[in-house]
Amino acid sequence: MSPAPAQVKSCCAAAYSGATARWLLGDSFHPGGARLTSRLASALQVNTGDMVIDVASGPGTSALQVAKETGCDVLGIDLSAENVEDATHAASSAGLAERVRFIQGDAEALPVADESADGAICECALCTFPDKAMAAEQFTRVLRPGARVAISDITALPDQLPPELTSLQAWVACIADARPLEEIASLLQDGGLIVERTERHDHELGAMLARVDARLKAARLIGAGMLYPQIATGRELVAAAQLALARGMLGYGVVIARKP
Ligand SMILES: C[S@@+](CC[C@H](N)C(=O)[O-])C[C@H]1O[C@@H](n2cnc3c(N)ncnc32)[C@H](O)[C@@H]1O
Repeated sequence: MSPAPAQVKSCCAAAYSGATARWLLGDSFHPGGARLTSRLASALQVNTGDMVIDVASGPGTSALQVAKETGCDVLGIDLSAENVEDATHAASSAGLAERVRFIQGDAEALPVADESADGAICECALCTFPDKAMAAEQFTRVLRPGARVAISDITALPDQLPPELTSLQAWVACIADARPLEEIASLLQDGGLIVERTERHDHELGAMLARVDARLKAARLIGAGMLYPQIATGRELVAAAQLALARGMLGYGVVIARKP
């Protein structure tokens, strides 16, 4: 049985906030890091002064990168108040507070005016939204005609995932409700967008899983005694995900779509 949407949302916002998430995942909370963010930023074809939104902006690293690389203003939206606060601080420290702002909000009800965005990115987060069709409709609503959304996300063959990858923990780890790349494209199309291209970047998920496992192993070695059960559960989840990736049941992909 799927967990309740409100529980999924609050668990995701809590899991991807604060020092532990930063320590485990680094400055970007998605496979492919800055390299894949650059790819999404250039796919938007935006210019200086345009306004781009980053939906589920996490620590704000990608929003700052997009602002620097494209000259755009960026509005990051995230469910976690702690992420919004940390990201706002990061924008000030980078001297970009005038161009990059962060607000708290839900991807399924974006606090953004209709047809006001010249582009949107959403990295490693659609998989965690309980109502993905609503999130797709929200992208369509807030983009101006001709503007693009660039999404990168975990992909999965949900019917083939083993039980350990369909728990609430696996949901929070972006796996349990991940969809095939073609289904993500269809979701955007059904939401009113024209899909321009899809790309597979499965190896980026493999690299991220290896990094996370190395950190969990290090935590055990340095004797994070009270956290042993969580570390063991985390490593089991990573091992199951690595096996699913090797068997072609999990991956990472990109979809670029345009509003007509
Ligand atoms: C895996 S992290 C990705 C963060 C960021 N996009 C990145 O790549 O670094 C997922 C993020 O989605 C946010 N999130 C989860 N559900 C959300 C929702 N319904 N609306 C907005 N943000 C959400 C979490 O708070 C978290 O910051």
